[in-house]
Amino acid sequence: MRTYPERVTEALPNAPQDRDVRSGWRPGRVALRRLAVASVVANSAIVVTGGAVRLTASGLGCPTWPRCTDGSYVPTDEYGVHGLIEFGNRLLTYVLLAVVVAVLVAVVRAGRRDLRRLAVVGVLGIPAQAVLGGITVLTGLNPWTVMAHFLLSMVLIGYAVVLLQRVDPAPAPPVAPLLRRGAQGVLAVVAAVLVVGTVVTGSGPHSGDPEAGRTGLDPGAVSQLHADLVFLLVGLTVGLLLAARATGAARLARASAVLLGVTLAQGLLGFVQYWTDLPVVLVGLHMAGACLTLVAAVRVVLAAGPLSAGVPPQRGSARRGPARQASPAPAPGSAMAR
Ligand code: HEM
Repeated sequence: MRTYPERVTEALPNAPQDRDVRSGWRPGRVALRRLAVASVVANSAIVVTGGAVRLTASGLGCPTWPRCTDGSYVPTDEYGVHGLIEFGNRLLTYVLLAVVVAVLVAVVRAGRRDLRRLAVVGVLGIPAQAVLGGITVLTGLNPWTVMAHFLLSMVLIGYAVVLLQRVDPAPAPPVAPLLRRGAQGVLAVVAAVLVVGTVVTGSGPHSGDPEAGRTGLDPGAVSQLHADLVFLLVGLTVGLLLAARATGAARLARASAVLLGVTLAQGLLGFVQYWTDLPVVLVGLHMAGACLTLVAAVRVVLAAGPLSAGVPPQRGSARRGPARQASPAPAPGSAMAR
């Protein structure tokens, strides 16, 4: 059985099987980190621009897919500004694609095999979202497919945050199992808040097109459930923060404090938009806030769990133990050391 240092050495960029790809561009950690940040930002930005499509009632500005109209790949005068807005959002997909492909290329060139799977998921997410977006258009903005479209973006943002964190595998100090479960519970509640939030939207007035269907659920009742879950989230996050502080888990305490701040701000925004009959600017900000909340929640889990380790465990090796918590030391002169 290979020892942990052997496994780490294998994952580092100067491993023999990676030498061939390192003869040209060899991105260091800084470049990888920048690209990973760009991926988180671009994935979040397309959520907000997608929201702008919905909030300007431009969801069917291109009434078909993959063409914009039956006879044209680009918008025609018939659909006016709505066509331009919807088509503009479709074009932004290519910007996102360029970013996630750049991340994958950089990961391969850097010989970071531990990041490859995450980077591949980021790339595969784009065609998946393009098809789901197409189904959304072809179903006349069915609210359930709109929800799936939004939630898949949330999953992709989550993966992008994990990749970003793993670029610099800082040692994760040991955390009590109960705290780790608490962190995972917090993420689960955030996921529930996001899902129910999309149901509120699917039941409310901003459908993306005057003809689009709604869920038929009572928007007030679903909003109440959405807000109740947020109260649960606040309570759990406060509990986690206090427990992390009491046990000296400083990194987890910091991440929990950030999540608490983001949740309170987002919750306040949610109430204000509810009381003011959903002005589009506030709804757009609430969508951006949803991305931030997810990023903060994923970071809480990363601050508490084994995902913080830079090198994934190998099959057949000891799955738990101090070695997994350790950070691989960059080989002198390797791309990782820069
Ligand atoms: C952590 C806190 C919160 C998060 C992460 C969150 C997240 C979300 C998400 C993801 C959506 C759906 C966006 C979309 O599909 O376009 C949404 C919609 C909504 N949220 Fe929240 N929310 C939070 C707090 C609140 C609170 C406290 C309220 C108060 C009632 C609220 C009211 C609403 C309303 C009214 C909508 C529907 C907006 C529309 O019709 O477009 N939210 N929220």
